[in-house]
Amino acid sequence: MTVLTAIIPVAGLGTRVLPASKAIPKEMLPVVDKPAIQYVIEEAVNAGIKKIVLVTRSGKEAIENHFDRNFELEATLSQKGKIDILDSIRNTLPAGVQIISVRQDNPAGLGHAVLCAAPVLADEPFAVLLPDVLIEESEVLTDLQRMTLAFNELSHSQIMVEQVADDRVSSYGIVDCDGLSLKSGHSIELKDLIEKPDPATAPSNLAIVGRYILPYRIMTLLASTPPGAGGEIQLTDAIQSLVKEQPVDAYKMTGTSHDCGNKSGYLIANIAFGLKHPETAAALSAYISDKKTNK
Ligand code: G1P
Repeated sequence: MTVLTAIIPVAGLGTRVLPASKAIPKEMLPVVDKPAIQYVIEEAVNAGIKKIVLVTRSGKEAIENHFDRNFELEATLSQKGKIDILDSIRNTLPAGVQIISVRQDNPAGLGHAVLCAAPVLADEPFAVLLPDVLIEESEVLTDLQRMTLAFNELSHSQIMVEQVADDRVSSYGIVDCDGLSLKSGHSIELKDLIEKPDPATAPSNLAIVGRYILPYRIMTLLASTPPGAGGEIQLTDAIQSLVKEQPVDAYKMTGTSHDCGNKSGYLIANIAFGLKHPETAAALSAYISDKKTNK
């Protein structure tokens, strides 16, 4: 079955980027000239997604508004003949793509957030994209596109991973590929996975990055998954049960991940994307080389 639906959990409080996220959702903080969430939705749409389910909460309405029409703004820009800007605000959501919102009434963890979307899904495979993570792609075929291709070919779930430093493994879900080496852009069946392991017993340093392709079966498994690390219902724990029933692959990313959920990751993402944006690249790179020479 083709993957047409993506779940994007956006109910997080954004405590790591306060005070910026006090009155606006952290997902709406701009990276160069677009809110971070727009990059994530574009990534999903580029991989063939047609239905996006936002798992949201009160105070996050700006996200839905950003992907809706704004007739007053459109009329004003059109009257003033500002056609370029008009295009950029009109096409935040491409034609043929639908956004559905469901609420997470209780911040009980990522697994719980994903389960909140179950009532609006058919019995279909789906992608999960964590909006804190922005992916700077390095190849024409994006990582999520490669994951959907691998899923279409093999019907194995796909979990995106990247290598992290040994002292960082306790911050992530970590996969166990039985010691086999995994090349970037490729998938391998995993043996097990564990959420936020003790570095001393971690099975590898391949960390889950925040992109998943999963079968609908995971919803049933989530419904009976008890709270795990941090007292939260963990998606990783439900995937651990799935591994006992059917093949689940680790996919090693080719791009670079940026965690915009913390201040330094957010700033680095702005620099990385700013150095690639035609309107900002020259000024930003001149500033950086000037700083380097005058330090
Ligand atoms: C979540 C997942 C974890 C994954 C991480 C990626 O953790 O539970 O497995 O490695 O996202 O960003 P969180 O960052 O919500 O603690």
